[in-house]
Amino acid sequence: MSTSLTTVAYLGAAILFILSLGGLSHPETSRRGNLYGIIGMTIAVLATVSGPQVTQQGYAWIVAAMVVGATIGLYAARTVKMTQMPELVALMHSLVGLAAALVGFATYIDPSASAAYQGAEKVIHDVEIYIGILIGLVTFSGSVIAFGKLSGKIGGKPLLLPARHWMNLAGLLTVIYFGARFIEADSAGAGMTPLIVMSVIALLFGIHMVMAIGGADMPVVVSMLNSYSGWAAAATGFMLSNDLLIVTGALVGSSGAILSYIMCRAMNRNFISVIAGGFGTGGGAAAPAAGGEAQPAGEVVSVSAQETAELLRDAKNVIIVPGYGMAVAQAQHTVQEITRHLREKGVNVRFGIHPVAGRMPGHMNVLLAEAKVPYDIVLEMDELNEDFPDTDVAIVIGANDIVNPAAQDDPASPIAGMPVLEVWKAKTSIVMKRSMASGYAGVDNPLFYKENNRMLFGDAKKMLDEVLGALKT
Ligand code: TAP
Repeated sequence: MSTSLTTVAYLGAAILFILSLGGLSHPETSRRGNLYGIIGMTIAVLATVSGPQVTQQGYAWIVAAMVVGATIGLYAARTVKMTQMPELVALMHSLVGLAAALVGFATYIDPSASAAYQGAEKVIHDVEIYIGILIGLVTFSGSVIAFGKLSGKIGGKPLLLPARHWMNLAGLLTVIYFGARFIEADSAGAGMTPLIVMSVIALLFGIHMVMAIGGADMPVVVSMLNSYSGWAAAATGFMLSNDLLIVTGALVGSSGAILSYIMCRAMNRNFISVIAGGFGTGGGAAAPAAGGEAQPAGEVVSVSAQETAELLRDAKNVIIVPGYGMAVAQAQHTVQEITRHLREKGVNVRFGIHPVAGRMPGHMNVLLAEAKVPYDIVLEMDELNEDFPDTDVAIVIGANDIVNPAAQDDPASPIAGMPVLEVWKAKTSIVMKRSMASGYAGVDNPLFYKENNRMLFGDAKKMLDEVLGALKT
């Protein structure tokens, strides 16, 4: 393929990626957005593979790598459960980071690549390599830790090393110092030592950064690592002089940065403070491990599925608040059936979606869309938070942190200041979960002990099936 044809193909792919991002911003257009992304990526891969840089001998390697990669990707996509998606995404971010770092090392070692640059161009090329490897390795190790935290292999409690800010500063200064030595180096051998020192610091920094984040602030870190992986890809694009990789990386990097900003606003957190770590600790008071049994702080009143059905049947206005437990139980289809049944009986049913409900951005929207819940009754937290006082029943399905009144009432709480859905203001709130265990942030929930709150204990899918059965009789 000629260079000009490759450029045209890259331009088409870049436009398709932009259309894809636009489409993915709304559930109704997301399928189309996904399709644009697939077509764009197919064009990008074909144009790159048939481009002038690939030699005849290279094809065997490329085909072998594509077969291995596609097999792993297909297997993962088919077997991964919806609840494991955030972990998978974190793992994929780590691969993007690792790829950027490996390309950086390969470009540096490759004598033909280095010989092509002289003077100021060589300095720019070296800076690209250095920054590419730096971002790539921070993304890699940070994403591996995020994977560990999201999958529960590493505890959610923040690791707060003494003088951690000074350590970060010292790391940054060392990276700058060795960066200068790397650029000064006149041979690949001399430059390798500063590159390796920086690589070790980058890996440690990624680990330290994510280990210091408290449980409830993980959404910000996930979207931030998403952004980093984009910048790592863009850096790779610079190293390889591949325009499409630069554009695509910048698209991912900037959309990830915007998402991080939205997440911070949703959590009422300052972006810099989250990155600096230590949030989610309640001013140093360690939160119990996520999912741990919290010390009961009062009496709870439990209800049966039958009583829940009666409360729903008598209600005029119902708000359903889904959370991570709905995803675990895969209860969305039963939720949809209950919603349809109640709406047919004239009950006004709406859904309240917290921006960080579940374990990934848009988690609840995806599940409800999959179950074909009408979009117009699925509302953002801000759109219906004021309506709880006029609501007869607020039913919380496998959610915990996002309906915790301590976020408003207890300044010492690890989630203090995070906006929450005010379900306790409804006439009756019903919380559906299996036990008194805490949520992701590992904090007790005073909602459970409120006078107008009822607990429906059990697996959400099983209990909702019983509620549906009772509603139909
Ligand atoms: P959580 O606070 O984690 O609470 C989920 C609750 O679901 C748990 O308390 C659990 O209680 C219950 N549960 C689990 N399996 C269940 C099942 N099969 N049936 C019924 N209930 C079940 O979830 P949330 O309210 O959605 O809040 C999200 C949390 O995750 C926030 O802290 C957020 O910061 C964090 N987070 C979010 C993201 C994104 S981007 N959304 C990413 C990382 C972390 P039992 O064990 O008693 O059943």
